[in-house]
Amino acid sequence: MSNWFERNSLYIGLAAAWTAMLGSLYFSEVLGYIPCTLCWYQRILMYPLAGILAVGLLRRDRGVSFYVLPFSLLGMGFSTYHYLIQKTTIFGGETSCQVGVPCTTVWIDWLGFITIPLLALVAFVIITIMALISLQAPAEVEDIEAHEATPWLAVGGVIGALLIVFGLLAFVNRPAAASSESEPPPVTMLSAEEATDAEAMPADGAGGETSGEADGAALYAASCAGCHGADLTGIAGLGNSLVTSAVVKTYDDETLLLLIRNGRTADDPGHGSSVPMPPNGGNPNLSDAELLAITQYIRSQTQ
Ligand code: HEC
Repeated sequence: MSNWFERNSLYIGLAAAWTAMLGSLYFSEVLGYIPCTLCWYQRILMYPLAGILAVGLLRRDRGVSFYVLPFSLLGMGFSTYHYLIQKTTIFGGETSCQVGVPCTTVWIDWLGFITIPLLALVAFVIITIMALISLQAPAEVEDIEAHEATPWLAVGGVIGALLIVFGLLAFVNRPAAASSESEPPPVTMLSAEEATDAEAMPADGAGGETSGEADGAALYAASCAGCHGADLTGIAGLGNSLVTSAVVKTYDDETLLLLIRNGRTADDPGHGSSVPMPPNGGNPNLSDAELLAITQYIRSQTQ
């Protein structure tokens, strides 16, 4: 282990904690992604680390790792569990989040595997490793001379923290003028072939000849009901009513399928509510055939 790492491990951990905290606030406050219950647990464990590590470093407290590890290790557990329920069915595909956004909702899916809990997991792992490196670093590597935080340091810290909070609030509440200039996402129509292919394709994993409508109901319950409600009338603050939706009434199947595929960001001109709709309803695994089954289910319930 190089000396450099031993001397700077806690700074790397601090950077990881701040990146994770600001990144998660960017996702929720700027992009409008709604954190699920499991996301909140990870936030509860991550956010204090941004402060604990900073104070530990300022006070040159070699014992800071002992305060960091309980948070980072628990955080690793939550992130791993969250990632597994997003990407696998080993916990039965059901989620522990019955209220609000389903924990299986995938807001981002970069390269097909990088989701928000995975990012959190990476941060928790970095912080844990850095805390462990700092723990085992020989005493002479660091200046461990007892170091009381001087008053100006405390004052500076408080002012800095206030500036950051006010800056963030100002940024988040900035007038939305700029966003209206952004281009609406192009609505490319499915070609006739693709559409018929999709209809002919059996629903993935459905295992045989179940009727499209029955599938649609189950798929709707799993991926959409969390926001649009079991009875399709919507849940305030999460998703609008599909029963009264003009979009559902007027769009044909392909356009509707495409809307669900793409989701809607809050700056989309067609957007009617204050929250975004995640692409695929937050479930990247839904095939065209499954989305069509859902669409048909929605139609069967709204006409
Ligand atoms: C995380 C919450 C969430 C989930 C999960 C979700 N939606 Fe949505 N959905 C929304 C929001 C919010 C809107 C409103 C977007 C807007 O105002 O443009 C919306 C809009 C829609 C619309 C357009 C309705 C209209 O009148 O504008 C359709 C159709 C729709 N969703 C279908 C689905 C389907 C099908 C699923 C499941 C595959 C799903 N949604 C999952 C949040 C969600």
